[in-house]
Amino acid sequence: MLAKRVLKKAIREARGLRYRGALAKYNTPLDQYMNVGIGQVGGWLAHDVVFPLQTLADAQTSAGITGGAAEIGVHHGQLFILLALLVGDEERSVAIDLFERQAENSDGSGKGDREIFEQNMADASVARSQIELITANSMDVAAEQIRESVNGPVRLFSVDGGHTPELTINDLHIAEASLAEGGLVILDDVFSSMWPGVIEGLLTYLDLPQTLLTPFAFIGNKTLLAHPDRSQFYRDALEGYTPYINNRKDTFFGHPVTILRA
Ligand SMILES: C[S@@+](CC[C@H](N)C(=O)[O-])C[C@H]1O[C@@H](n2cnc3c(N)ncnc32)[C@H](O)[C@@H]1O
Repeated sequence: MLAKRVLKKAIREARGLRYRGALAKYNTPLDQYMNVGIGQVGGWLAHDVVFPLQTLADAQTSAGITGGAAEIGVHHGQLFILLALLVGDEERSVAIDLFERQAENSDGSGKGDREIFEQNMADASVARSQIELITANSMDVAAEQIRESVNGPVRLFSVDGGHTPELTINDLHIAEASLAEGGLVILDDVFSSMWPGVIEGLLTYLDLPQTLLTPFAFIGNKTLLAHPDRSQFYRDALEGYTPYINNRKDTFFGHPVTILRA
């Protein structure tokens, strides 16, 4: 029994040493998170999404597109932490989740946990004073609340809450109304057969006459949307990946899209 405890402790210490050694190879919280920390956070984010998102955020910065980050549906924060680090300490970010109100999680997509999320943000050196957490059902959230939380519009908005058609349409409308001119929306699981509600919601949203956003890329399990006049700009920014990753150009309901998939 004692030998087992000693062995477990030694394994934990060795893992901790290896982890700290891996972190030490990188200089900034963003690089540390992208290369090491992200793997320690529970979630479903595919690795092929991480670096292209950094490229798109850098393209925004070069083009003078500013704003905070927002996510509906954060679970333990795997993507939210990346988005908050990408917009940097100068910008505010807002995380919306049911957290302890899981009885309202109508389709059982993920399970937000505020305590684990807070610990993961601390581990990744996210500037906590720049983050607002909202415990809410996204059906009750207004875009004004999000703009107030980040002191303006949002340039990176992830929609990854409930995966039903109704929630997808609702959350896309919130994202659209919160978005900075030139900002982008990241929608999860459009092509997942486990969650058919998402594609139903997206297609319904795209069909509405007042819809402002169109898809421009599919990266891993994420569908990216922006104002149509920014589609080419973002697709050009993704060109640098094409020698390194499976890729195609296609159209989706008439919209040109770049597809990257590891
Ligand atoms: C798939 S997980 C999110 C994964 C997360 N984006 C990540 O990077 O790991 C879905 C999350 O949405 C939350 N959620 C489900 N329905 C919701 C709703 N109606 N309003 C707000 N959050 C919701 C769940 O609590 C869960 O944390």
